[in-house]
Amino acid sequence: MYPSHRPRRLRRTPAVRRLVAETSVEPRHLVLPMFVREGLAEPVEISSMPGVVHHSRDTLRRAASEAVAAGVGGLMLFGVPAEHDATGSGAVDPDGILNTGLRDLAAEVGDATVIMADTCLDEFTDHGHCGVLDEDGVVDNDRTLQVYGEMAVAQAEAGAHVISPSGMMDGQVGVIRESLDVTGFEDTSILAYSAKYASAFYGPFREAVDSQLSGDRNTYQQDPANGREGLREADLDLAEGADMVMVKPAMSYLDVLRDVAGLADVPVAAYQVSGEYAMIEAAVARGWLDRKRTVQETLTSIRRAGADVVLTYWATEAAQWYRESL
Ligand code: PBG
Repeated sequence: MYPSHRPRRLRRTPAVRRLVAETSVEPRHLVLPMFVREGLAEPVEISSMPGVVHHSRDTLRRAASEAVAAGVGGLMLFGVPAEHDATGSGAVDPDGILNTGLRDLAAEVGDATVIMADTCLDEFTDHGHCGVLDEDGVVDNDRTLQVYGEMAVAQAEAGAHVISPSGMMDGQVGVIRESLDVTGFEDTSILAYSAKYASAFYGPFREAVDSQLSGDRNTYQQDPANGREGLREADLDLAEGADMVMVKPAMSYLDVLRDVAGLADVPVAAYQVSGEYAMIEAAVARGWLDRKRTVQETLTSIRRAGADVVLTYWATEAAQWYRESL
């Protein structure tokens, strides 16, 4: 009798497939990125990310409650200020939109989920770079670190449980850890965007945060050609005290994610970014892809590659699907 090895035996029924599934996605694994925009009375849809909005302070609270009810593991907040300046001063202002939004989230959901803050200057600067510039217009690493330290403390004061440096400055995790420790926030965690690539897939996000950027981020974000460098970045962040590390984007970097997950002795996150969301929604809108199956397959693949935590704009809806199937 041939063949005697029949892997199809374990695929025969939904029950046996469920029994042997190696990877699962649960609501708690998902983190919802959210945008709050200063001065909005009504939410405004981001045209390149159908279904994703800039929130007013009110709708931010409502959407956060909905996400928590669906069981999401966390919320990642971005702020879009009305005014920008050269040093991104809105980022360190306790009354700036991001810090205000963090306080709103803390008041709304408290400790029912994990509140994360994006710690980067690009939303706040008038040139759109992730740091302050030197005389030649290049991002000044060490001056930027000072601002990140202050920004992190303002976010912790506003109620963020997790500070998430995403600017790819050298030494950012160490400076933030130190700033938090000396101000009494030694229990506030750091999720380091360790391997963050200079990616075309951030395109829709730039619209989302009303980015002022002309030019690119190639002097600080990583070259997509480099895998080993992603491991080195993660190593450095761990040495500087990161509590969790991240790979971003997700789908085009699953190899890096796999390698980082193998090396890190802390939880690993992956960020399914705006372009990954937009390309699937666009294909779905044309009837070219099945939405739910496609989204679930992407989330499963990111978990399978080694992510403990997945940031995704589908978090609330996907959490609802996964809850129903538990
Ligand atoms: C930088 C930042 C970026 C994203 C989140 N934070 C990228 C960038 O503009 O370089 C991308 C998120 C997405 O595309 O979904 N603060």
